[in-house]
Amino acid sequence: MKNKINTKLVKIDPKNIDYKVIKEAADIINRGGTVVFPTETVYGIGADALNDEAVDKIFKAKGRPQDNPLIVHIAQLDEIYSLVKEVPEEARILAEKFWPGPLTMILYKKDIVPDKITAGLNTVALRMPENEIALALIKESKKPIAAPSANTSGRPSPTLASHVVEDLMGKVDMVIDGGSTYIGLESTVLDMTSSLPMILRPGGVTKEDIESVLGECCYDPAIIKSEDKIIPKSPGQKYKHYSPKAKVILYKGSIENIAKTINEDYSKYKSLGFRPGIMSTVQTEKFYIGKTTISMGDRTKPLTISSNLFRGLRDFDHMGVTMILAEAVDEKGIGKAILNRLKKAADKIVEV
Ligand code: TXA
Ligand code: MG
Repeated sequence: MKNKINTKLVKIDPKNIDYKVIKEAADIINRGGTVVFPTETVYGIGADALNDEAVDKIFKAKGRPQDNPLIVHIAQLDEIYSLVKEVPEEARILAEKFWPGPLTMILYKKDIVPDKITAGLNTVALRMPENEIALALIKESKKPIAAPSANTSGRPSPTLASHVVEDLMGKVDMVIDGGSTYIGLESTVLDMTSSLPMILRPGGVTKEDIESVLGECCYDPAIIKSEDKIIPKSPGQKYKHYSPKAKVILYKGSIENIAKTINEDYSKYKSLGFRPGIMSTVQTEKFYIGKTTISMGDRTKPLTISSNLFRGLRDFDHMGVTMILAEAVDEKGIGKAILNRLKKAADKIVEV
């Protein structure tokens, strides 16, 4: 690769943060460099949001299309006022309730926010992450930090530093290893500029959570009918995403029907020369004894599934699996976000 960067890999214990390392990372941000850091959702590749050249490095490192805007990360609520034209009452209420946390809000931007970040839109996506390392880095650099997920565009988002190393070694200045991210799926993206707050990407803060404080919100129709040819409002949602190298088939239906069909298809694909692997759950492992399986987690604790999903997709690649047979989960709570990512990763959806 041309222009290879000497990436510095450092470790920080989130429970005992080494502020010397944070300072070093903040210096890189302030010099216009790129630092990968953990958040509670996924790892992000960060740069000074107000520096065009620095932001450009993010797009290059990820191979990200220029028309896909970035999320700007802040560490204190009042920073929002310097970046957006107005903060509607509803946005303030949501920020107080869910920040720091996995909620990104779209608001009308001020001119200070470079067009590069917003891909020319008049709005900007803002989020205050909850991870202490992320917050410390933003505070120390005294800059809003633009940070998309730290994967090569199209690949599953990284939930471990080793995933970042796989995708971005030699392409960023620093990678901070802060352990595994506990939610495992990217933040909820909520458009606060539409007449009703609209979820453009489901995530850790659910529709029910938002409705519990605002009364009402809705999904971007493109999420509900992702099979239709509706153009999603969030530019990032139109791209194929979360793709392991293997093909993915998603099975929807009752647990028994899913298990029966997956077992039949496992044999079928094996005889066709594929190396199948089953993405199961604690409740269904018993149906697949002797087969190549990764359990995503416990259906009664969907957070175990969300936190393991992307790692599972990458692990199948490492194992040489070429056809992933994945079980759908209930659409309740964060299950909506899990299913959204699985649908986007899937080459085919089978209803059984
Ligand atoms: O959890 C997360 O949100 C992670 C961590 C690192 O914070 N970040 C992340 O960023 O997932 P990224 O770039 O992978 O996803 C940002 C999403 C994209 O789908 C993008 O199109 C959308 O947010 N987005 C950003 N700005 C927008 C805007 N002004 N209007 C509509 N959608 C926007
Ligand atoms: Mg992403």
